[in-house]
Amino acid sequence: MARQDGFGSSFGTLIALIGSAVGLGNLWRFPYLVGTNGGAAFIIIYLICVVFLCLPGMISEFVIGRRSQQDVYGAFKVLAPGSKWKYAGLVCVLGVTTVLSFYCVVGGWTIDYLIKAIGMKFSVADQGAFNNIFTSVSTSSTKNTFYMLIFLVCTCAVVLMGVKNGIEKCNKVMMPVLFVLLIVIMVRSLTLPGSGEGMKFLFKPDWSKVTTSTVIAALGQGFFSLSLGCGTIITYASYSNKKDNLFKTSGLTALADTMVAILASIAIMPSVFSYGISPTQGPGLAFVTLPYVFANMPFGWLMGILFFFIMFIAAISSSISLLEVMVAYLIEEFKANRMKATLLSFSVVLILGTLCALSQGALSGVHIFKKNIFDFFDFISANVLMTGGGLLAVLFVGWRLSKKDFKDEFTSSGKYNYSPWFLSTVLLLIKYLAPIGVALIMINGLI
Ligand code: TRP
Repeated sequence: MARQDGFGSSFGTLIALIGSAVGLGNLWRFPYLVGTNGGAAFIIIYLICVVFLCLPGMISEFVIGRRSQQDVYGAFKVLAPGSKWKYAGLVCVLGVTTVLSFYCVVGGWTIDYLIKAIGMKFSVADQGAFNNIFTSVSTSSTKNTFYMLIFLVCTCAVVLMGVKNGIEKCNKVMMPVLFVLLIVIMVRSLTLPGSGEGMKFLFKPDWSKVTTSTVIAALGQGFFSLSLGCGTIITYASYSNKKDNLFKTSGLTALADTMVAILASIAIMPSVFSYGISPTQGPGLAFVTLPYVFANMPFGWLMGILFFFIMFIAAISSSISLLEVMVAYLIEEFKANRMKATLLSFSVVLILGTLCALSQGALSGVHIFKKNIFDFFDFISANVLMTGGGLLAVLFVGWRLSKKDFKDEFTSSGKYNYSPWFLSTVLLLIKYLAPIGVALIMINGLI
């Protein structure tokens, strides 16, 4: 079936891919992982993982999506007719559903915090008070569910408007705004007295903190940050133009995503050091440490608003890419229209998202494999579905797709020329290194 909707230009595709990649992973997860894994050394390992393992993964998904021009399930069905590969598409659909369910809850926190920042609720002076704020935000059943719902409705509204008029247009506004505001916060952070210590932490490697688990954490983070393993790249690539330069688009997406992660760390670490706080707070870094820092710095009120605003934008631009995987699947496999497909996806995510939202409140007694529902969803998506989907994608391109088809798609049917050794290297990474890397994250996570 010919597609009626798609991205309008190669720039539109690129900005949407960047929107998907740049998310809570960059502003929330990356900085706290840098903080708990020894700073610069983690960043260097992360960069190596992105280039040699994650980028090949992204290229694989791009090839699958653009070659087939189908939703995740249809993509494997068309490229490997009559085989069981189509179930890889179902792993992706299941993956986005679980990721989206807890992602919406954290997205809801960004709205809650943004409202608090605007209402000057961060003027309390001691750090303990911020711990209490975070605890009350993450354990309140009603608030958690309410803000999750608002976040989900915003996500659905964009997806409902379509690929070109909704997803592409919104990203074209949101991404530049995010970038500019991030620079503003970064400048504020760097001009605080004592910020140099934070920069030293970020750029002078201390290798003594590096262990195997640092490497695995870096790899897992790269995977999550580049939106791999759940078919978001497959779906977005299927809307891209056959003539676009696939390698350039993937490379620029990875570059922009990494840049935002590093900029976010520069926006955060120098201020944290400037106030003499330890960077090793973990997941609470953005929601506990930072509000405290904002409460104390000159212009901190404004910085707080800007920071939680960009967190919200980053989260929305990623959640729309997750939802679009479900919507595209329903539209193409069940011939639903966009309205029906979005409503059905909304209902499913609303139910699962509510379970996640209640998991630290009303449903805190419910445990699956000794984890509350939120943590279980996080665990199962990061260690089974996302890694499983990512593994299947690289294995498919490396071992099932013919070398000729790969080359044809990678070069846009010969429009772009690469030397044979370069093509072979990329294929080698996809065939061997990427699957081994992903399998390692999977095994490590499961045990
Ligand atoms: N990459 C996004 C982030 O950094 C999250 C995200 C979007 C994602 N799509 C995904 C993660 C698909 C895994 C799979 O926050």
